[in-house]
Amino acid sequence: MISRRASEICPSKTIAISQKVNELKKNGFDIIDLSIGEPDFAIPSAAKKYVEVALRENKTKYDNVKGLEKLRDEVSKKLLNENFLNYSIDEIIISTGAKQPIYNSILATCDVGDEIIIPSPYWVSYIEIAKIAGVTPIIIETKVENEFKITANDLSSYINPKVKAILFSNPCNPTGSIYSKEELEEIAEVCLQNNILIISDEIYERIYYDIRPISIASISEAIKNITIVVNGFSKSCAMTGLRVGYTASRKDIADKIASIQGHITSHPSLISQYAALGALCEGLDDVEKMVEEFKVRRNYVLDFISSIPEISFIEPLGGFYLFFKIENHFDSMKLCEELLEKYNLALVPSIAFGVEGYLRMSYAADLEVIKKGLNAIKSFIIENN
Ligand SMILES: Cc1ncc(COP(=O)(O)O)c(C=O)c1O
Repeated sequence: MISRRASEICPSKTIAISQKVNELKKNGFDIIDLSIGEPDFAIPSAAKKYVEVALRENKTKYDNVKGLEKLRDEVSKKLLNENFLNYSIDEIIISTGAKQPIYNSILATCDVGDEIIIPSPYWVSYIEIAKIAGVTPIIIETKVENEFKITANDLSSYINPKVKAILFSNPCNPTGSIYSKEELEEIAEVCLQNNILIISDEIYERIYYDIRPISIASISEAIKNITIVVNGFSKSCAMTGLRVGYTASRKDIADKIASIQGHITSHPSLISQYAALGALCEGLDDVEKMVEEFKVRRNYVLDFISSIPEISFIEPLGGFYLFFKIENHFDSMKLCEELLEKYNLALVPSIAFGVEGYLRMSYAADLEVIKKGLNAIKSFIIENN
């Protein structure tokens, strides 16, 4: 009764970890949970206000499959003012979280049997989303010397006629790396020369520390033409449970995304779209405060971790994760299990992101919890190295 497609899909390793952590918590264990990929902040108060008004006005019927027109209009303004990207509202499709836009993008542009390039470490669901769409993920391993960012050279050596697209996040989950303009230009040039679509996942775009990330689509009109920008409200507006994201792409691709989505889910919850509208129109001060708090935590984590010689790490420039390794401990799953069982500390093993030897620690948690987590790591090192 089970399809081959379904049998080949691996359940999300990060979701499996949170389930295990929740079970331990339910059984009374005091778990230091730094595995989570969601901001520990309330949604912007303006988002709540917009939801209340929308409910009072009974905005609960079917609406435009492409998404609420007012929201697409605000997203279009945001893309222009913040990212220097000129997209009409017909080129923007609002979807359920940022996951659905990624799936929609692949379905609209790749055929069964095509290949999609995914640099590792990658966000956990990329591989499985490609597989569900019948597209073969081609994983390119990146190098720590390059902060785990793919280079134009890496990409060139994997080009073949079956490769249709490349999919990556910038800022990157799990490493927190951000691509420079020059790096993006070089990658984009290879894509342009070889007619490869770029699916640019920019969901952590608002969470950066010093250098603001740029969208690869803003490099030139020609690059914009071969790019689908994916973004959403889960991380930047602390709205993970409300499930709103979007794509911006040229019109022919946007139309296909809309027709696919129209048959599968229609638009995302209208009430959630009103929350996103509120966040975008009047909630950005709350977002800035949240990012300021992430900055304080990040600096604390970096100061602490830099004083431990057995640890090496990638300096996170965006997002809210630290990607690090402990000398002499290469098996990330075993290490995570040990940290959870003996130190009550939940982290994510890098094997979930397609590379071995590292751990991902989220600092989307209260500073006191982060301090406990860091002390647990220190104790582990003292007792095991
Ligand atoms: C890089 C990246 N892309 C997409 C998503 C999915 O976002 P959403 O929860 O809005 O579907 C996540 C969530 O963790 C992510 O880290």
